Amino acid sequence: MSQDTPGSTATAAATSQQGDALENLLHEDRKFAPSADFAANAVVGAEVYAEADADRPAFWAKQARELLTWNKDFTQALDWSNPPFAKWFVGGQVNAAYNALDRHVENGLGDRVAIYFEGEPGDSRAYTYAELTEEVKKAANAFESLGVAKGDRVAVYLPMIPEAVITMLACARIGAVHSVVFGGFSSDALLSRIEDAQAKLVVTADGTYRRGKPSALKSAVDQALAADGHSVQNVVVVKRNGQDVDWHEGRDHWWADTVEAASPEHTAVGHDSEHPLFILYTSGTTGKPKGILHTTGGFLTQTAYTHKAVFDLHPETDVYWCTADIGWVTGHSYVAYAPLINGATQVMYEGTPDSPHQGRWWEIVEKYKVSILYTAPTAIRTFMKWGRDIPDKYDLSSLRVLGSVGEPINPEAWMWYRDVIGGNKAPIVDTWWQTETGAQMIAPLPGVTETKPGSAQVALPGIAVDVVDENGASVPNGHGGFLVIREPWPAMLRGIWGDPERFKETYWSRFETMYFAGDGAKKDEDGDIWLLGRVDDVMNISGHRLSTTEIESALVSHPAVAEAAVVGAADETTGQAVVAFVILRGDAVDSGDEIVQDLRNHVGKEIGPIAKPKIVLVVPELPKTRSGKIMRRLLKDVAEGRDTGDATTLADNTVMAQIAASLKK
Ligand code: WTA
Repeated sequence: MSQDTPGSTATAAATSQQGDALENLLHEDRKFAPSADFAANAVVGAEVYAEADADRPAFWAKQARELLTWNKDFTQALDWSNPPFAKWFVGGQVNAAYNALDRHVENGLGDRVAIYFEGEPGDSRAYTYAELTEEVKKAANAFESLGVAKGDRVAVYLPMIPEAVITMLACARIGAVHSVVFGGFSSDALLSRIEDAQAKLVVTADGTYRRGKPSALKSAVDQALAADGHSVQNVVVVKRNGQDVDWHEGRDHWWADTVEAASPEHTAVGHDSEHPLFILYTSGTTGKPKGILHTTGGFLTQTAYTHKAVFDLHPETDVYWCTADIGWVTGHSYVAYAPLINGATQVMYEGTPDSPHQGRWWEIVEKYKVSILYTAPTAIRTFMKWGRDIPDKYDLSSLRVLGSVGEPINPEAWMWYRDVIGGNKAPIVDTWWQTETGAQMIAPLPGVTETKPGSAQVALPGIAVDVVDENGASVPNGHGGFLVIREPWPAMLRGIWGDPERFKETYWSRFETMYFAGDGAKKDEDGDIWLLGRVDDVMNISGHRLSTTEIESALVSHPAVAEAAVVGAADETTGQAVVAFVILRGDAVDSGDEIVQDLRNHVGKEIGPIAKPKIVLVVPELPKTRSGKIMRRLLKDVAEGRDTGDATTLADNTVMAQIAASLKK
């Protein structure tokens, strides 16, 4: 494949609007057009935008019929008579597991590998579509024999092992609703989610491996279920790491004795298009977690379509790897469902990127000849910190599309990803979406879009995204505001489990008739969209609204910086002052005042003097949630000299102590 061509320089005449609008301060003039080769072989071309614009529901109805096999065809694409409660593909019946598995086997693809599993200790297993279908049928029979029926909820507390996907698909097959709880969450978090959904069955494992060491899971289930009064009747336990477990006779069952012993014959029946598929609780920085509800037909259609279009999936030849854990929405939409619906071959990895060494991911890419990689900016910045000599040791030439999700990707991280991982040829697709949206909403199409480092670009075909001001009026190009979705979309959340009022209030009350996503964004001069982070992360410095994302990106564009987090701390003079926390790259030297001055000046040059951090603190780590998002709230506490509040949702709870120690030096 020939190289992408850096395109012409379109200097965005970034009119720096001062006042209420979020400001457009960064000038990004690097552009990368798809190569002619890539465009010629791309699965979708530019015509899809016009087609979708002409009739959005009809566009999605066409995708639904092309991508899925329906037990009963639907009669209406969209029913929006009772907003914000949408119904997609009304009257249709469909089975998610049949679409992900059986039909591929019936179509002669039974021998194609569905999952290459790579365990952290180095064990590996491959499942063909025929084998995975058989496992899911057995699990469906086993769960039914334990009394799980259509509509019942099943809590899943498993590591990244194939049994997680098997469990999710077995639930979907019988119409049970899975609620996956991330394996890193505590027993309390598990119990509150079990109780909220009134789960009947829990599927877990004895434990997993974390950085070479066994790490327990079942003990947390035992702890959660210690008190009476919960809804759980049975617990199925996968043997993964062989560690000792307590056993509750009658309640606990080994996977090997139930699932493996069950019959491999099971017929999938169609479920209503609007039948609940899963609940997934969002981490939520405050308050009770929200059980985001997704249903079947619309979710499957949009995840499958975006997976095909945004990653340019050629299922016969591609090897796809999404590094997200099954505990997050990305692990639902783009590990458990879309790749299998599309008949793809995918890699699934159990462990951490640095176990047993910092080249583990690249070793996996080389081993399986991964061609599509989908990961998060936090991982990319970590690899930048470790240095390019690590990935440089591996053959990454199989990679042809690189995806990013979860946070704004800083332009320099984007460039590093493109250069070091993608060999300056693989297009980068930065995909914006949320647990609530169910599937990707804003992203380039790799064979069509001329991409700019750091921009998620444009709404996908059939999706109506806008940036509006406080009154809900669309802002012109060159301006910023609030990101909204104007029209219902197939994979949209159908509500918050058990709380329809909270659904309306959380997402549909800020602007009438529009879904407000909680993110700030700007449209550049070309109308391309730049995500600016959650609106609560916007700072107000001397009356100018500045986005944390833009200043962080400016810091990361300095050669010494791998990661940066910026907060606004209360300041007598300026209202708020910019305080920056930075992690230096592996080869950079902490020269004290010198580097601090250098970084301040660098931000001044990149954005403007107003954005210069008042304080720059060099720290060894940053506080992050388990899904990799920086917790600025805790940094704000540090910057304002308070004790840090509740830090229990941190991935690594020693980080705040490390920061405190480094600040005392
Ligand atoms: C952020 C993850 C910028 C955003 C799929 C959103 C992003 C929240 C991007 C949802 C992106 C996700 N660029 N920001 N490409 N992708 N976000 O529910 O703030 O874990 O609202 O879903 O992540 O996070 P969630």
